[in-house]
Amino acid sequence: MKSSIKNSKENHLIGYWTIPNTSTGFREPEPGFRPFLWKWKNIRGALDQAAQHIRPEEAFRRFIGYQHPDLKLGTAHTLLMGAQMVRPGEFAPAHRHIMEAIRFVVEGHGAATIVEGEPLPMEEGDLITTPNWSWHDHINAGDQPIVWLDGANGPMIHYYQVGFANPYHQPQQTVTKPVGWSQQYLWHLAAAHRVSVVSHELPPDHPIATHGKKPNGHSKPSPKARATLLIAFCCAMWIH
Ligand SMILES: [Fe+2]
Repeated sequence: MKSSIKNSKENHLIGYWTIPNTSTGFREPEPGFRPFLWKWKNIRGALDQAAQHIRPEEAFRRFIGYQHPDLKLGTAHTLLMGAQMVRPGEFAPAHRHIMEAIRFVVEGHGAATIVEGEPLPMEEGDLITTPNWSWHDHINAGDQPIVWLDGANGPMIHYYQVGFANPYHQPQQTVTKPVGWSQQYLWHLAAAHRVSVVSHELPPDHPIATHGKKPNGHSKPSPKARATLLIAFCCAMWIH
């Protein structure tokens, strides 16, 4: 028996009985990384610095990721979050990839993400999803930088070694669909009509339903409501 085991190792085989048995007995999950805090002032400052030196059409994306110190790649095991900025008059070239992304706008207005020919306007507090293998590009026609939090399942895609990507045959897509062609998670709709970004009815006292609502119908997310939307953003990303 010992000689056969020895031969197995020489032939790069493994006996299942040599692997620790985790299917029986009491066992608890072990966290794979420690809690960690990234301060917004640091990433916002880094975006400003990058804006001075890196043009998005040259660098593909002006994106700065939250890289967890306990992980090789990612903010969590399956997720890489970061922030991206596009300055007024700039665009980020069209491309597609296997990664799917969720974008939560935290600053600016007047920009749009074009997904498969459809413009999705980007206003503060809005949430945009970009399905995998969808052509997308970003353009800022506003008068101030647009900044959004960007979450993508890159680490998981990398693990499965299916990280395919293509540049579009032109720098930008041609708009072929009207605004509103797809479902939009717009902040002003969420606030005015009390609609949840995760497609569930909210209780009347929910922060999204009660904060940021003004008598004139226009609204701007309060810090508390922004935090709630961000939590929904992260939950949606994790569910993905
Ligand atoms: Fe992308």
